[in-house]
Amino acid sequence: MMRVTARTFRNLVTRSALTVAVTIAGGLAAAQEVKPVSPDLTPKLRDLLRKEMLSIEGASKDILSALIAGDDARVAELAQQIHDSFILQQSMTPEDREDLMSAVPEDFVSRDQAFHELSATLSKAAREGDRAQQHAEFGRMVEACTACHALYATDRFPDLAE
Ligand code: HEC
Repeated sequence: MMRVTARTFRNLVTRSALTVAVTIAGGLAAAQEVKPVSPDLTPKLRDLLRKEMLSIEGASKDILSALIAGDDARVAELAQQIHDSFILQQSMTPEDREDLMSAVPEDFVSRDQAFHELSATLSKAAREGDRAQQHAEFGRMVEACTACHALYATDRFPDLAE
């Protein structure tokens, strides 16, 4: 039998606190509107979003090829490209921006920002030649793609719908 030491007890407490936090966060996300965002976008924004998605998908595939070849410089370049692209942001007029903000939930915007930050972290890990961290960050990126699609792009990816 496991002896309940002070440390295991602390672990248990931390873990239950985490569970509670995750449950609350889950509840909050559910309270926000979780549905495909595309139908609510203006045709211009929808077009920009799709272009951005296709370009980051292309870059992500190339990152995989560079990762399995140990080409740190190429990974750094591609990840930086994803980070800097922000096609959506760069091609938006202030009016488009207003349209976007009124069409998508805040959670969508923060997921997009978090995703772009991840690509910057991946680029940094590649510049530093840290392979283990590159693999971890790339994994997190794939999770970020899928998580956002499962919430906001189930019209395009119905297999991700729960
Ligand atoms: C913040 C949310 C979000 C993140 C993060 C995200 N996507 Fe998307 N993605 C969307 C939405 C919304 C659509 C649906 C666009 C539409 O159908 O108009 C989409 C659509 C796509 C499409 C289909 C484009 C098309 O022309 O039909 C591809 C491919 C794609 N995403 C790839 C990716 C990849 C690869 C990643 C991660 C490296 C990623 N996405 C991360 C929200 C996101």
